[in-house]
Amino acid sequence: MAKTQVTMKVNGAKIEALVEPRTLLIHFLREQLNLTGPHIGCDTSHCGACTVDLDGKSVKSCTVFAVQADGGELMTIEGIAAADGTLHALQEGFREMHGLQCGFCTPGMITRAYRLLKENPKPSEEEIRYGIAGNLCRCTGYQNIVRAIEFAAEKLSGATAREAAE
Ligand code: FES
Ligand code: FES
Repeated sequence: MAKTQVTMKVNGAKIEALVEPRTLLIHFLREQLNLTGPHIGCDTSHCGACTVDLDGKSVKSCTVFAVQADGGELMTIEGIAAADGTLHALQEGFREMHGLQCGFCTPGMITRAYRLLKENPKPSEEEIRYGIAGNLCRCTGYQNIVRAIEFAAEKLSGATAREAAE
């Protein structure tokens, strides 16, 4: 099948590649870019394990063609920590609050929570639960995931308040 040239920014780096028009974004990320953080849990847009951030929105990358991301800006779980390896507050939260068991849902969950906290930096528990409703976890019962996101919200708003005071 004829391939199409795509250009996009992925985790801050400019990417140019040839893709078949039928290639899903999740397959492009995993198989062509070797970004295997986003997982494939269902391939039917139910589980959210494949969630990435595309142009400021949480997107289930199994429901998007790679060509639809042409010209876009993407972030996957691989791009969430600082360049020096310092964990993002969400990653720290999941570690501190035991927000994972098998970890299969975790990359999508954290990437979704990243956008949730950008949209709503101080969410209530109900808003967190609603915000991650598109991401399924078969292990944890969600309680500690909610706590992990609360941990990150608190830490990030503390950092924001400190930055404003400086
Ligand atoms: S693999 Fe995309 S939603 Fe499950
Ligand atoms: S930690 Fe296992 S699916 Fe969520």
